[in-house]
Formats: sequence, structure tokens, C-alpha cells
Amino acid sequence: MSAQIINGKAIAESTLNDVQTRVNARIASGKRAPALAVVLLGADPASAIYVRNKRLACEKVGIKSIAYELPASTSEVELLELIEKLNTDDEIDGILVQSPLPLQIDEKHILEQISVAKDVDGFHPYNIGRLAVRQPTLRSCTPFGVIKMLQTTGIELLGLDAVVIGVSNHVGRPMALELLLAGCTVTCCHRHTKDLQGNVERADIVVVAAGKAGLVKGEWIKQGAIVIDIGINRLADGTLCGDVDFATAKERAGWITPVPGGVGPMTVATLMENTLLAQELRE
Ligand code: GUN
Repeated sequence: MSAQIINGKAIAESTLNDVQTRVNARIASGKRAPALAVVLLGADPASAIYVRNKRLACEKVGIKSIAYELPASTSEVELLELIEKLNTDDEIDGILVQSPLPLQIDEKHILEQISVAKDVDGFHPYNIGRLAVRQPTLRSCTPFGVIKMLQTTGIELLGLDAVVIGVSNHVGRPMALELLLAGCTVTCCHRHTKDLQGNVERADIVVVAAGKAGLVKGEWIKQGAIVIDIGINRLADGTLCGDVDFATAKERAGWITPVPGGVGPMTVATLMENTLLAQELRE
């Protein structure tokens, strides 16, 4: 049997429509539009595309986006000065510093200097900590977007066995915390995991964020499992693919996300929701 496709693009579209309606209602009641500051250092082509997609989403929903495009040679002190200015600017609701950052800059230190109330990426240790203690506020965009995609399947998540592959600070770790919050029994797999295949074979939900094409074989997927592929890899012929062998996995899974058109659009839509939420919480 072939899996049902979880159409991230369509779910993101409906999330964006909802944000747009709420923003319009705020403006109609005399409030200002939410504002997102997007800081980009250097000219990494992938980052430029991500930032452009975020700007377009802001335009669509009526969020004001303010771009700070700085040279790759920007010093950490200069970047910290900008963050401090944005932290104290009452007309800015969200601050996003696009990663990766140039090598002279300590990314962890920068992320910790962003005001927790404006941390719309949900990367600050405070916001990850709130998620860990079951009091989420600003939640990391990709993991929270995945939870919303899982909810659209109508499947009860409580008690399911979930496996997260990849344990990065921005995706894998908050993803595991989100699944735990949703009541799943969560296993985290990483480069030192002894039996990746065995863990995948037991899972009702497989979430893969390793950045390695073909890492998860379709034959490993349990019949009827939900497969969420966060990986995005460019093959030698220029095509994009995830970390899961989609063609074989979809013959066994109950539900599966495509790449592209799966998780990616939900990350941006959740960023828009977070920016609106950040504004609401600061009032
Ligand atoms: N680089 C790639 N994805 C992201 C993201 O979601 N947020 C930030 N800040 N940087 C990124």
C-alpha cells in the first residue's frame, strides 16, 4: 500500500492564511503590524534563498520585515551592537540571525544575546528550556511545524514510539522534546548509535534530520509508520532529496512527507506565527 502524503505546502498555506487574518484584525483595531528583523551576514547562496523565502512570507501575511545585510567580515562586537539595538527597539517583535555565521563569530554566544521575548527562531537556551519543562512559549520553528503536520494526520500521538535521527541544537533536540511533550516514547539516534536500523524498524514515527541522502532505507520502515523527512540534500544532478529513500519508504509508511514541499514550508509558516505570538506576548 502506498503512503498518504503529508502536504507541508498546503498546511503551511493554511497556517499563513490564519496568521494573515489575525494580523489584519490587529491592524483594523489600530495596532501596528508585527515586525521581524532578519540579519544576514555574507552572501551564502542557500542562506540568501532562506532569507528571501522568509521575506516573501512576511509580505504575504502583512508582517513588516526589516533586512540587515551585513558583510561577511562583520565582527562579533558589531553584530552584538546591532542585536542590542534591536532588543531595545519597541517596534521590533522578532529577531532572526540567519545561520551559519562566519567563522569569526561565536554563534552560540550571539543566539544567547537575543532577547528571549524576541527569539522567534526558538533557539535561545531559555526557550528550549521552557519546552523541556513543559512550558513552551516561542518554540523552534521546524520541530513545532512537524508537530502541526503530525496533528493533521488525525493520529493520536500519545504513547507512540518515536525515533528522531540527528541531534542538532536547532532541530533534533527540540524535536525530541516536542515529541516527548506530545506523549511519545522518544529515542534519539545519532552518529554513535549502534543499531540505527533496529531503532527505525520499531518506530511508529520516524523523524529524520541528519542531512545525509539515503541514510534511512525504505525497507526499515514499519508498515503504517509516519515518516517525517527534515533532510534537504542536493544531488550531483541538481535535484533535491531528503534523508529517506522516499520511493521505497512510501510503499511501507502510512504517512510520509515529500522533499521538497514537506517540512520546509512549515518552518517558514511557523516563523510567521512565532513573530505574531512574540508581538502579542509583549503587549
Ligand atoms: N539557517 C537555516 N535554517 C535556519 C533557521 O530556521 N533559522 C536561522 N536563524 N538560521 C537558519
